Amino acid sequence: MKKRLVVIGYGGMGGWHTRNALTSDVVELAGTYDIKEERQQAARDNGIYAYDSFEAVLNDPTVDLVTIAVPNDVHEELVIKSLEAGKHVICEKPVTIGSESLKRMIAASERTGKYFTVHQNRRWDVDYLAMQKIVDSGEIGEIVNVESRIHGSRGIPSDWRGQKEYGGGMLYDWGIHTMDQMLLLFKGHKITHLYCTADNITNKEVDDGFKLHLYFDNGAEGYVEVGTLNFISMPRFYMRGLSGSALITDWTQKTKVVHCKAWHESDVVPVQTAAGLTKTMAPRDEITTNSYEIERPASDVHDFYRNFCATIDGKATQIVTHEQMLRDMLVIEAAFESIEKKQVIFFEQPL
Ligand SMILES: NC(=O)c1ccc[n+]([C@@H]2O[C@H](COP(=O)([O-])OP(=O)(O)OC[C@H]3O[C@@H](n4cnc5c(N)ncnc54)[C@H](O)[C@@H]3O)[C@@H](O)[C@H]2O)c1
Repeated sequence: MKKRLVVIGYGGMGGWHTRNALTSDVVELAGTYDIKEERQQAARDNGIYAYDSFEAVLNDPTVDLVTIAVPNDVHEELVIKSLEAGKHVICEKPVTIGSESLKRMIAASERTGKYFTVHQNRRWDVDYLAMQKIVDSGEIGEIVNVESRIHGSRGIPSDWRGQKEYGGGMLYDWGIHTMDQMLLLFKGHKITHLYCTADNITNKEVDDGFKLHLYFDNGAEGYVEVGTLNFISMPRFYMRGLSGSALITDWTQKTKVVHCKAWHESDVVPVQTAAGLTKTMAPRDEITTNSYEIERPASDVHDFYRNFCATIDGKATQIVTHEQMLRDMLVIEAAFESIEKKQVIFFEQPL
């Protein structure tokens, strides 16, 4: 039977959740609730039942599941109240604005026996899935480093995302997604240290971009960069393995792979640059490399709700786990610390 879902917050992301719920095979949209009357009216205009209050949602015994899609500073309060009212909860990312807050949310889930997860929808992005597929296949050997970039040119949005008190800034916004993906690409490895710098170009209060270096216990490096003043975007993903490289220029594109089939090459012809000669940097040809493209993998965003509902029914295990949520949050916290202190942060217990 479909789970009855209420979406709290009918803004940008609330709209996304309700639209997907309308075509879902596992949830049925019971309604929405938004603190602003204009958004309540917008829901009604779209034929969606708007609950009179948050309490009315919690008191409705027919509601199984709530999705919290409000600004980040109120996630904790609404998640804990929902769990205590006996609802299962999906919370929008970053989940909350600190690890202590997240621990209280997890404790409420354990205390009430109700399931709780975070909407890490970008685990279903095809660019990330393509990179994951290459890592899992081992086709370019052991991964030495991955660079993940998200570049836009519109600055930080002028809404609550530009204000610290609401949990604004790009680390909490795109950072949590790109960093979560990076940790999955290096699954099985712990972070020994990290270094992060932030941009404050279009906004002085919160970061409107950042550059985060993550160093893993096997010597590999993950680099995550988000920029909002990039009128030319750098490639979405660039990955180097011991026997090849992979590149995705942007999320609409296939993956380009160059696989090195023979390391040594005799009689390398030097290339002539404008003011010199180089053998070291001479490009390789098909004698030592294979070049090919990989199709974009299939992906279905409904799989997130499918997994959560199957977890509630005891038929699956939660894809986005509490352990992963806490690790993501600790990395973000350490990144903020690195920005503030202008220092590398070492973890006594690798994370
Ligand atoms: N997973 C993703 O891809 C993704 C994308 C965008 C936003 N988000 C997340 O979704 C959440 C909402 O972001 P958004 O872009 O929809 O913001 P938004 O400003 O468009 O919408 C937020 C809505 O919440 C309402 N609201 C505020 N406080 C409330 C409360 N106490 N009770 C009920 N309603 C309340 C506001 O009136 C507003 O309509 C954030 O946590 C954000 O990080 C996730």
